[in-house]
Amino acid sequence: MVNKQQNSRNVVWHECCVKRADRNRLNNHGSGLLWFTGLSAAGKSTIAHNVEKVLFERGMRTYVLDGDNVRHGLNANLGFSPADRRENIRRIGEAARLMVDAGLIVLACFISPYREDREAVRRLFDGDTFVEIYVKCPVEECEQRDPKGQYRKARAGMIENYTGVSAPYEEPENPDLVIDTQALDVEQSVEKVIGFLSDRGLIAGRVL
Ligand SMILES: Nc1ncnc2c1ncn2[C@@H]1O[C@H](COP(=O)(O)OP(=O)(O)O)[C@@H](O)[C@H]1O
Ligand SMILES: [Mg+2]
Repeated sequence: MVNKQQNSRNVVWHECCVKRADRNRLNNHGSGLLWFTGLSAAGKSTIAHNVEKVLFERGMRTYVLDGDNVRHGLNANLGFSPADRRENIRRIGEAARLMVDAGLIVLACFISPYREDREAVRRLFDGDTFVEIYVKCPVEECEQRDPKGQYRKARAGMIENYTGVSAPYEEPENPDLVIDTQALDVEQSVEKVIGFLSDRGLIAGRVL
């Protein structure tokens, strides 16, 4: 395993005896990364946490990586400039890769506004292991919802580089799934994700 960004010398990859496939067999389900992208207040966290609950209740090993929580710890030193946003997503992608290797179904909810950053995460994973879910909602509707009062602050100039207001959001060109949260309610949105995962064979216990 060679990382082109590797800075440290004399670091040699140590092959693990217990492989991801062994862990997947033990768990009786595959592991993978469900990447929820979309504007703030589009519904990423609401949907991801509800999907996790369904999977958890079916006996699957899961974990949600959520934007603000990660910025409290792992990425506490990063801001919202394009370079920091890129590094934020890169670290999350690498953390998720470890978690997928550990046998988990990881649900990541991050605005992740740049297409190239999301594609860089996708490239860390084989084939169907990475699933991009576009949580789609017009900015006007997100502003109406404004559950954290952040759009109001951004419009008042109190928050800089706010996605959809003063920073760009690049829509996915070819997402695996689109959830239109203006058209669907929370329950329908969760059902759509679960249905998609069933169709992919995840729920039946096959490898994602
Ligand atoms: N179909 C839907 N899916 C998810 N959330 C929805 C939906 N319709 C309305 N909402 C509301 O939109 C808000 C989404 O907030 P949140 O999940 O925190 O968004 P995000 O994580 O994308 O910033 C919540 O108040 C939720 O109740
Ligand atoms: Mg959220």
